[in-house]
Amino acid sequence: MKVVVYPGSFDPMTKGHLDIIERGAKLADRLIVAVLVNANKMPMFTLEERIEILKAGTTHLKNVEIVPFTGLLVDFLKQNGARTVVKGLRAVSDFEYELQMAQANRDLYPEMETIFLCTNVQYSFISSTVVKDILRHGGDISHLVPQEAINIIEKILGGKDNGSGSTGRN
Ligand code: PNS
Repeated sequence: MKVVVYPGSFDPMTKGHLDIIERGAKLADRLIVAVLVNANKMPMFTLEERIEILKAGTTHLKNVEIVPFTGLLVDFLKQNGARTVVKGLRAVSDFEYELQMAQANRDLYPEMETIFLCTNVQYSFISSTVVKDILRHGGDISHLVPQEAINIIEKILGGKDNGSGSTGRN
């Protein structure tokens, strides 16, 4: 069985992520979306929320699982019988960091490979950072995030609205 891992922070999931998940799922018997537990010091969404949003956005994909991970990615690969990582490349600016990560990972685990998928051009400007910025200011994210995921995001943020137009989140 070919197990492929797509790691990231997914704070929150975007249509760009979904593009890579859908295409990665075609390359695998089982695609594990590995959600980093400590995304950064101040994620907008908790681990549980990021997982719930991802699950909502990927229900149509039967060979995709959403799993939390902590520690080294290579250890997660070994624990899950995977030797392949898939990542998306939006622009040349992504490449330097991704190349370093891929080389560091292979240095730790020479049997693994990282496959880079070029993001579809209509999603190349989308990032979680852009989505969070728009959310903080009450803007429209319907073209940036899958609708099923937006329903969960609205449910999560709905309970926290203080009427100031801000989400009150990082
Ligand atoms: O969505 P992101 O934040 O760009 O994802 C980064 C991620 C999760 C792929 C990366 O930070 C990661 O793999 N972290 C786990 C620690 C690790 O294995 N680092 C690489 C070896 S130095």
